[in-house]
Amino acid sequence: MDPGTPQNRDTWGSKTAFILAAAGSAVGLGNIWGFPTQAGMNGGAAFLVVYLIAVVAIGAPVMLAELVIGRHTLRNPVGAFKQLAPGTSWWLIGAMGVVGGVIILSFYSVLAGWTLSYIVRAATGAFKEGVDSQAIFTHVSARPVPAISWHLAFIVLTVWVVLGGVRDGIERWTKVLMPILFILLLLLAVRAVTLPGAATGLEFYLKPDFSAVDGRVILSAVGQAFFSLSLGMGAMITYGSYLSKKEGLVSSVGWVTGFDTAIAFLAGLIIFPTMFATGFDPSISGPGMVFVVLPSLLSTIPPAPYGGLIFGTGFFVLLGIAALTSSISLLEVGVTWAVDEKKWSRKKAAIDLGAISFLVGVPSALANGAVDWLTSLPGIGMDFLTLMFTIFGSFALIVGGLCISLFVAWKWGVGAAGDEVRATAGTFPLERIWIVLIRFVCPLALLVILIKTLFDTF
Ligand code: PHE
Repeated sequence: MDPGTPQNRDTWGSKTAFILAAAGSAVGLGNIWGFPTQAGMNGGAAFLVVYLIAVVAIGAPVMLAELVIGRHTLRNPVGAFKQLAPGTSWWLIGAMGVVGGVIILSFYSVLAGWTLSYIVRAATGAFKEGVDSQAIFTHVSARPVPAISWHLAFIVLTVWVVLGGVRDGIERWTKVLMPILFILLLLLAVRAVTLPGAATGLEFYLKPDFSAVDGRVILSAVGQAFFSLSLGMGAMITYGSYLSKKEGLVSSVGWVTGFDTAIAFLAGLIIFPTMFATGFDPSISGPGMVFVVLPSLLSTIPPAPYGGLIFGTGFFVLLGIAALTSSISLLEVGVTWAVDEKKWSRKKAAIDLGAISFLVGVPSALANGAVDWLTSLPGIGMDFLTLMFTIFGSFALIVGGLCISLFVAWKWGVGAAGDEVRATAGTFPLERIWIVLIRFVCPLALLVILIKTLFDTF
C-alpha cells in the first residue's frame, strides 16, 4: 500500500497500533544511548529534573501540535505547511525536517550498527566474567571496515522495512516487541541497582544538585527531549497523517510521552548504578559510554556464563529493533515527501534517500577511533558524530520545535487546531493548558534557549 494522495493513504490498524508505532519512533537509541550519555555529561539528577520539565511543558504540547497538523492535512510535512499556509515560506519547516531526517539517520545508523555487532558479540559469549568492555568497544567501532559495514547493514534494514509500507512494515514490528523491551529493561534495572556499590550511582542519578543547572544543561535537556520524542523534524506530522480520523490525540500524546520517558528513566537506572559499581567515571563523554558500560553489567548476570549470553543477546536484539522502529520514521519523513510531492515511487524514494544517508554517515562511522582527526576535530574538541548529534539531533530540532509552535499558535491558530482535535474525539481535554503552553511557554522558552546558545557559542 502506498501512502499516495490524501484519498488513498494508508492508515494505522487501530489506536493501539498507532500509539505503539509513534512510541516505536520515540523509543530508540535516544532513550538508551542518548539519555544516559547526556545525563552523565550534565550532572546526573539535575539533568533528569530539567528533562522531565522539558518533556511535560514543551515536548508534549509540541507533539500534539505536530500530530494535529498531520492528521488535519493528511500530508507530508512540506505539503502540510503548503496546504495550511499557501503562498508563504512556512513549508521550509517541513523541508528542514526532510533534510534533518536524512542527516539524523546518517549517524543514528552508525550507533545502531554498533548495536547489531553487539548482538553477535553477545551471542558468541563475549560478555562473561572479566570482560574487557573497552576493548570490545574499540574492536567494534575503531576499525574502519566493520564500522562502515555495520552502518551499511543497518541502513539496508531500514530501507527494507520502509519499503514494506506503513501497515505491513512498521506496525507489525512494533506491536509485539516494545512491551518485551520494557520488561527486559525492568529486569536489567533490578540487576543494576542490586550490584555492590550501586548506591553511589543511584545518588548521582536521583539526588539533584541544582547548582549544576546552567544554560548548557538546559539546552542539552530540551534538545534531548526533542530527540527522544522524535519532535521538531516532522516525524510526528508524518505519523499523524496516517492516523485515522477516529482517534483521540491527547491521550495518544500522553501514552507516547509517558512510555518514552519511562524507558529513558529506566535506562538511567541501569547505566549509572552499573557505572559506579564497576568504577567508570560518569562524565567519560563520547558516544561509546553506554556501549562500554552495558557489557560490564551483562557479564554479572547469573548463571555464568549463560546469563550474559542470554540477556546480552536478548537485550541487543531488542535495542536493535527499537532503533529500527525509530530509524524508519526518520527515513519515512523524506519518503512520504518524495512520494507525495515529487511523485517518486516509494521504492526509488526509500533507496535513494537511504543511499544519501549512508554516504553522509561515513565520516560519523569513522569518528570513533578509525580516523584521528574525525575522532577529535581540530579546534572543536569533539568527535564528528557528537558534532552531528549536537547540530542536527539537538539544536536543529529545537529550531524546528520553535517554528512549529509559532506556526500552530499564531499562524494556523489554536482555534483551528482545537477543532481538529475535537472533530473526532468530541472533547479536547486540557485544552486551556495546551493553549497557554503552545502560545507562550514553548516559543518563549525555546527562543531564550536558542539565543543564549548562540551567545555562548560565538
Ligand atoms: N526518537 C528517536 C530515539 O529516541 C530518534 C528520532 C529522532 C526519531 C527524531 C525520529 C525523529 O531514538
